Amino acid sequence: MNTKVVSGRQMHLEAAAKVLKSGGLVAFPTETVYGLGANALDESASAKIYQAKGRPSDNPLIAHISSIDDLEKLVYHVPDIAKKLADLYWPGPLTLVFEKRDVVPYGTTGGLDTVAIRMPANEIARELIRLAGVPIAAPSANLSGRPSPTRAEHVIQDMDGRIDMIIDGGSVGIGLESTIVDVTGKIPVILRPGSITYEMLKKELGEIEVDKAIEGPLLKGEKPKAPGMKYKHYAPKAELKLVAGMERDVVSYIKKEVANQSEQGQVVGIICTEDTKEQYSQGIVRSIGYRSKEDTIAQNLFAVLREFDDLNVDYIYSESFSKENLGHAIMNRLMKAAGYHMIEV
Ligand code: TXA
Ligand code: MG
Repeated sequence: MNTKVVSGRQMHLEAAAKVLKSGGLVAFPTETVYGLGANALDESASAKIYQAKGRPSDNPLIAHISSIDDLEKLVYHVPDIAKKLADLYWPGPLTLVFEKRDVVPYGTTGGLDTVAIRMPANEIARELIRLAGVPIAAPSANLSGRPSPTRAEHVIQDMDGRIDMIIDGGSVGIGLESTIVDVTGKIPVILRPGSITYEMLKKELGEIEVDKAIEGPLLKGEKPKAPGMKYKHYAPKAELKLVAGMERDVVSYIKKEVANQSEQGQVVGIICTEDTKEQYSQGIVRSIGYRSKEDTIAQNLFAVLREFDDLNVDYIYSESFSKENLGHAIMNRLMKAAGYHMIEV
């Protein structure tokens, strides 16, 4: 298949909407990460997403809408908590899980009776969905198991030849996937942390829970509420080791390990910050941002993991971050990439 790469100009969005209406696949920018879109109401179109990504078919897709009026067509009931959250954060990086109506096929929800819905803030994404006239199912536009794409180049790397079209909207703003909140029960539950943080939601709602699957590896037989959380996402090719402790101790531990590994002929990558980068003299050093500006760390994390994959490093050592606010989402992605291996020094 010849994959067309286009800009976000209106004429291209119109062409892309046509592709979506006729059951094809279009990758597009959102404010979180790039999405791989198909008509969410067409089971055979959704099936193509699973095929292009190599994604397990029990991992449900998020349906993206362009207007709040589309919500009631897809879900049975909009609980008050969901109305409040949609009012506060839509359009934006928040996905809500509802009981689905019959129009939403099981092929889109991975066989579940619930459907995840999000109204993205990115203008290209919303205009594309509006022009398509149907909700758009869109997982992140990466091959299954690779870091989510934050630039069109990443999508091209993974999807060239597999999908009809890629809309290049430049670098995304946030860099981590949306916060997912299940609103089907009495107390809302965070299924995946994102840039709408636990602290923000707690302040607005008073009561909110966090699904166990976010905090650590599940025991055998335990099931996460978001099926995707059980897969080893974002797994870099190299073994990633996350190092936590006082900054000085972390830096000196990583330096010592990198010196040892390098001596044995291993290629080692280091994920650090602007605050510490000058202190490393060996290994391939990548700063992912400023500790005092966690949004810069969120923006760069996936691109750096991809870069280390391309460089074929054998090991990656990463500094770690506080789990508060946006750090919760950053550490969730890093912990998963590290297979929950954390070295405390
Ligand atoms: O920011 C985002 O959410 C991006 C952009 C493209 O919108 N999309 C995204 O999709 O991250 P994906 O497919 O990579 O992740 C969707 C997550 C998976 O972990 C999946 O299991 C969960 O959402 N999910 C989808 N539908 C669900 C449902 N009905 N119940 C529980 N979890 C659901
Ligand atoms: Mg994904």
